[in-house]
Amino acid sequence: MTKAWELEGFLRAQDNQLFIGKFSAKELAERFGTPLFVFSEMRIRQNIQRLYKVEEAIDCKLKVCYAAKANSNMAILQSIRKIGCDIEVNSGGELWKALKAGFKGEQIIFNGTSKEDWEIEKAIEAEIYAIQVDSLYELSLIGKIARKMGKKANVSLRLVPEVETKTHSGLQTALSTSKFGMMPDEALFAFKNYKSCDFLNLCGIHIHIGSQNPDKSSYTNAMLFLFENLLRIEKEANVKLKHLNLGGGFPVNYLRDKTQEKDFAPSVKQIFSADFEPYEAVGEAWKEAKRNFPEVKTDDLTLLLEPGRSIIADAGICLTTVRNKKERPQNSQDKDTLNSTTTETWLLTDAGFNILLSMETYKWYYQMIHAERSCEEHSYPYKIGGPLCDGGDVYFDIEGEGRLPDYRLLPPNTKPGDLLAILNCGAYSIAQMFPYNGRFLPCVLLVEENGNVKVARKRDSFEDLIANEVFEEN
Ligand SMILES: Cc1ncc(COP(=O)(O)O)c(C=O)c1O
Repeated sequence: MTKAWELEGFLRAQDNQLFIGKFSAKELAERFGTPLFVFSEMRIRQNIQRLYKVEEAIDCKLKVCYAAKANSNMAILQSIRKIGCDIEVNSGGELWKALKAGFKGEQIIFNGTSKEDWEIEKAIEAEIYAIQVDSLYELSLIGKIARKMGKKANVSLRLVPEVETKTHSGLQTALSTSKFGMMPDEALFAFKNYKSCDFLNLCGIHIHIGSQNPDKSSYTNAMLFLFENLLRIEKEANVKLKHLNLGGGFPVNYLRDKTQEKDFAPSVKQIFSADFEPYEAVGEAWKEAKRNFPEVKTDDLTLLLEPGRSIIADAGICLTTVRNKKERPQNSQDKDTLNSTTTETWLLTDAGFNILLSMETYKWYYQMIHAERSCEEHSYPYKIGGPLCDGGDVYFDIEGEGRLPDYRLLPPNTKPGDLLAILNCGAYSIAQMFPYNGRFLPCVLLVEENGNVKVARKRDSFEDLIANEVFEEN
């Protein structure tokens, strides 16, 4: 019987082992050590293809720009470029990485609330597709820098659409109470005042309504907002826009396996189990916008998307070894889960929130499975923690808020030395990792489409722990 977490060409259970492509997880862990991230190029391609399916649901051109903030490992960026996706960057550093990974200027868009002069200069020099402008102040700064360089900067204005979604409060980005973008009236003012500027090419408008948005309807509200503003800019500023950017935020179903579904508060379950195809959400949104604004001509328009999570989250897993085990008197009220046990069993792994930051900041849920007993029933409750010296470095709910299950389920008698796999953790993990507690940042592998495995990042060495630190050798 297939498991809910199996993914064609990437993850499967065979002879009780977890297989990643043609390799057993155990073999990879023995060769490269744990914690170990493993990514699948084939899954990345499938996810990008799902996004390009949006083309069938709209009647204008589509440009998909992978949000590099989700994971900017160079080998992964190169795969994404090879597969045929463009890129969104969020700093001069990510811009540099994108160019180094081989993306051309016209494939790059550049977001960010606090751009420095040198970052703007680099973006103008590379003649990128659009610098997404966060405020009127920033627009005038870009104009000044472009004038000094004797160049014309392509810009798109980021607007506040006031679209609230049902995602986690920390992932909301489209309200005037969040820090991003400018108000629609400011954008209209900018189009009127800068449309003939020799150094600014105002070509589009941009929004991003948050990450892991569980409801399709938010995209309809977002698209209606874009069409309404496109029309207003055309009518009142007499400027024809070249593109609309709907942002990213398409969800990933982190709860494909429903075994622990009941342990989540309903609103949290809704976020983690969100499951719709981007083409459905964008298609419905497009249809509704065209119906409401029939006067908008879309033939010469390009629709931009900038998804991160939906491309890379379920294309990556983390293998981790159980390093410690202990019994504690039972604390939980959840007698159902604990059955007749009077103690609770703790397992401590070598993967902490220093490599999975969302686990701490947003209490993010990542399914865990036993990688060497993957066909056995996962029914025994464990308290599972990572290696860090923080009480919050755990994979269960410590606040009793229903954000995470109270226990994680694995086969009975899981013990030190056993290998576990943390699934769907390719996004916002290695992009945010840090060497807290002197922990080596992990090795990252990429399983290529030809079936071979390559190292995409070496595991840190002792010397990496002190890189850039200035001190006197003893
Ligand atoms: C401006 C912008 N675009 C795109 C994204 C990517 O979002 P996601 O990874 O949810 O698709 C983000 C992330 O929050 C963002 O801030």
